[in-house]
Amino acid sequence: MAIEIRPCTQEELKDYARIDAYVFANNNDAEVAEQMGTTQPDWTMCAFVDGEMATTMGMFPFTVRLNGAPVKMGGVTSVGTLPQFRRQGLLRKVMRQGLETMRDRGQSLAILWASMGAIYQRFGYGLAASQVSYSFDPRFAQFQQPRQVKGRVTMRSMDDGYPVVKQLYILAASQRNLHIHRARALWDASVFRPWNKDRVYIAVYDSPDGEPRGYVVYRTAEGQHTGPGPAQVMTVVDFVALDMDAYVGLWEYIRGHDLVGKVEMANCVGEDDPAPDLLLEPRMLNRRTSDAIWMRVVDAQQALPQRPYGDRGEIVLGLPVDDLCPWNAGNYLLETDGRTTDVRRTERSASVTLTPNALASLLSGHRSATRLHRAGLIEAADDTALRNADRLFATVYAPHCPNGF
Ligand SMILES: CC(C)(COP(=O)(O)OP(=O)(O)OC[C@H]1O[C@@H](n2cnc3c(N)ncnc32)[C@H](O)[C@@H]1OP(=O)(O)O)[C@@H](O)C(=O)NCCC(=O)NCCS
Repeated sequence: MAIEIRPCTQEELKDYARIDAYVFANNNDAEVAEQMGTTQPDWTMCAFVDGEMATTMGMFPFTVRLNGAPVKMGGVTSVGTLPQFRRQGLLRKVMRQGLETMRDRGQSLAILWASMGAIYQRFGYGLAASQVSYSFDPRFAQFQQPRQVKGRVTMRSMDDGYPVVKQLYILAASQRNLHIHRARALWDASVFRPWNKDRVYIAVYDSPDGEPRGYVVYRTAEGQHTGPGPAQVMTVVDFVALDMDAYVGLWEYIRGHDLVGKVEMANCVGEDDPAPDLLLEPRMLNRRTSDAIWMRVVDAQQALPQRPYGDRGEIVLGLPVDDLCPWNAGNYLLETDGRTTDVRRTERSASVTLTPNALASLLSGHRSATRLHRAGLIEAADDTALRNADRLFATVYAPHCPNGF
């Protein structure tokens, strides 16, 4: 059995698309063709068994905000092995080669959405963001304090609205943590894509002096009339508010849909969204959280200096073992003034020792060092070392990636 690991060619993209469609049971040919239109052979890594494509993996060249700073990351996607080739180590080979390629390209971190966490944890991926979902009846989502809507919300056509929402997203994302720089293709695939022929609407909040400060992208659909109440369903796809006036304006706009009985907001806001703190009955949000983005530190020495830190200071991080990215193993001295950071290898003993998985959770700001330590996921020299790590790795916003990919 001859195994070859390499990117596919332009001609082989159709095989790549076929495997991707099969493993994810996507029977919509038009959607598959659209998705593949945004994939380039150079962004793939595949396994071929005796010349036949068996495993696929995509690596989108993303720029992603990490605690506000733009960082090149590989967006891992389309991971699949045809059933007859599974459990033979093909994905492991593809992943190893893919991580080396990302490293060569200066993508010092990789991120993905996992169908199953089990697949990626053994490859050194750690949880880097949760997703928050709300599902609420707008009649029970009023603020605890009456809040005045100062500006106004207007619906925009796609042509008029796109440049406005794009600019607002850029302003919001540049402060955030794990927001992806969205190319038009990503907007189309993850925000504007109609679902079951539902129409996609854009509504923009303008401040009293006419400045756009927030927007909501949503769909509405008729629901099942099982009782006497309103039955429409509003699905919010994207929600951006640059300030609390915009937040209140958009929230009240959503609540103004009298015939909507259920508002679904899945992964539109981060874990630090203020709604639970603001509502009269927070429980009525039916707030749920679950795992979202998994991150892999591809090149620790390159990745660590790229994010802003929570404070000035220094720390020695120990990463004794890294199977898939062996170049990472070692101790690193990180010195930062908060904005500018220097990271170099050191012989000094580590104050915090961790696995690639835990490093991803710490670096992204998803988990504090103290919390990881309590769970037995990192070792610390003492409590002072933990408090120091907590202070340095704190992020302004909780990590939140509002995009699928
Ligand atoms: C996930 C998938 C790509 C794995 O492909 P594969 O070529 O069989 O993977 P490998 O044989 O290289 O296995 C890699 C490791 O992951 C483990 N693994 C693979 N699939 C797993 C699963 N579903 N659950 C738990 N562990 C899994 C293997 O045991 C192996 O561990 P090891 O290397 O420590 O022995 C394949 O099962 C698949 O196509 N699944 C359906 C599509 C899917 O879920 N894709 C992921 C989308 S995010």
